Amino acid sequence: MAEPTPSGHIQAEADNRRTAAERRSDLLAAARTAQVSAYAPYSNFAVGAAVLVGDGSIYRGCNVENASFGLTVCAERAALFNAIGDGHLDIVAVAVVTFAPTLCKPCGACRQVIAEFSQAGNPIAVLCATPSGESVLETIADLLPDTFTLL
Ligand code: THU
Repeated sequence: MAEPTPSGHIQAEADNRRTAAERRSDLLAAARTAQVSAYAPYSNFAVGAAVLVGDGSIYRGCNVENASFGLTVCAERAALFNAIGDGHLDIVAVAVVTFAPTLCKPCGACRQVIAEFSQAGNPIAVLCATPSGESVLETIADLLPDTFTLL
């Protein structure tokens, strides 16, 4: 807790930071929950993702593999499609977790799909974390500059 000040400004800033940290922690926890449902009998590489939307709701997704390997859907896209399918185009952040000891970031296909929902002034945050708690927060513009667009 920061020292109270006459204006309360520092306190407000500290509270904002705490809230942001809590939001990140909630999103990662949701991604871990999603990871439990991963269907990955071929790669044994379970991935969990969670998407935060404008009204604060969180949508989860896991990777779903198929015997016809190319039909596999990544966790990030599964989570995004859950959010979009529920009417939320205002994607705020996407979290991704695996059991790998090093940070795993979204694949190129998922980056393109995330970028689809990025608008000027809305740099979608991408949060990746390891089981030991190492994490990195980047924007989709950092991860995929020069996005393909039709319009
Ligand atoms: N996978 C994801 O879920 N997200 C990514 O960004 C890359 C890879 C999944 C697909 C497959 O089920 C497994 O990880 C191994 O590639």
